[in-house]
Amino acid sequence: MIVPIYLENNTAIKYNVTIDTLPKLTYNRKVAIVTNTTVSALHLETLKSKINADELFVVTVEDGEEFKNLATVESILNQLFEHKLDRKSLLIALGGGVIGDMTGFTASLYQRGIGFVQVPTTLLSQVDASVGGKTGVNNSYGKNLIGAFYQPEAVFIDTEFLKTLPKREFAAGIAEIVKMAVMFDKAYFDFLMEADFRKKAVLEKVIQRSVELKAEVVNLDEKESGIRAVLNYGHTFGHVVENETNYKTYLHGEAVAIGIMMVNALAVELKMMTQIEMNLVTKFLEKHDLPTKYEIKEVDAFYDKFFLDKKAANNKLKFILPQGIGGHMIRDDISKDVLKKVLKAF
Ligand SMILES: NC(=O)c1ccc[n+]([C@@H]2O[C@H](COP(=O)([O-])OP(=O)(O)OC[C@H]3O[C@@H](n4cnc5c(N)ncnc54)[C@H](O)[C@@H]3O)[C@@H](O)[C@H]2O)c1
Ligand SMILES: [Zn+2]
Repeated sequence: MIVPIYLENNTAIKYNVTIDTLPKLTYNRKVAIVTNTTVSALHLETLKSKINADELFVVTVEDGEEFKNLATVESILNQLFEHKLDRKSLLIALGGGVIGDMTGFTASLYQRGIGFVQVPTTLLSQVDASVGGKTGVNNSYGKNLIGAFYQPEAVFIDTEFLKTLPKREFAAGIAEIVKMAVMFDKAYFDFLMEADFRKKAVLEKVIQRSVELKAEVVNLDEKESGIRAVLNYGHTFGHVVENETNYKTYLHGEAVAIGIMMVNALAVELKMMTQIEMNLVTKFLEKHDLPTKYEIKEVDAFYDKFFLDKKAANNKLKFILPQGIGGHMIRDDISKDVLKKVLKAF
């Protein structure tokens, strides 16, 4: 199945997201695969066997979010220069969101921009990170603060890659999936509640719907001046949880699950979601072994950390709230008292 991405004016297809067995790929250009040590050991040979290119070589970087930085980008760039890539050359990202974000950003920089293709290998990157053209790296000031909006030429999603993914990583992807459903699509949420993710056809359908929803949002608002922010449901609270635990205790998706719980509690307090609806979301997260509880030691300190988020524009806190299941609202009028009350009760 193919999900076309149009972007902004809906007149011309920019690129396709193909959800299927990885096809044979022929390129009359130089191709560099960018991957990491973990993924290369598992899946590089499969990818290489599918590619027919003028010249093909591989750049392998260390595995981990801590290597998602400018130093790694520079080392990739150096290897591209060593191999004399030209303006027509292509990068292929083979890996999770870290590799995808970094490869896309490197592609945007090499000789002012060359093409790149995403072959995402984690559930999170298949349903979220590989689509939409946000690329970049972290620095000491925060996550993803350096980067570019730079769209891939194509995205190839093959669920076979997920067979080697650790269970926790798989669940982390599910948190981003339920995010899409709660924000945009009640019928999809109902489907997810019953879905058996172990079945290939079900998994492909789930990925397809997530990509479609993300595509719709990105088409309307590529640069996140409006509705794209809705994809940050659960993230405002989740980022604080990640920050408080030094990015060590929880995977990003796990922190998002906790964040979803917190913002749902806020929505219940604001009468935007019923307790019954909240319980359904909780049940889904629990079913997939995602964390739903978090001990807030210091409510004041937790609250102050909201302002570290780069999205806290002119010190106004913006919350992406669910409106029941399948609806959303962005609000910047939530009082400190209400927030602290919800945090205390959590
Ligand atoms: N660009 C976007 O729109 C966007 C959206 C969401 C997240 N992100 C970014 O994505 C990153 C998180 O992505 P992620 O969750 O994929 O993390 P990740 O890329 O770190 O991958 C998680 C782990 O799984 C390993 N792995 C990858 N594929 C595997 C496979 N098939 N089998 C076994 N192990 C495998 C990786 O080597 C890594 O150790 C973050 O840096 C985040 O900022 C970007
Ligand atoms: Zn996320």
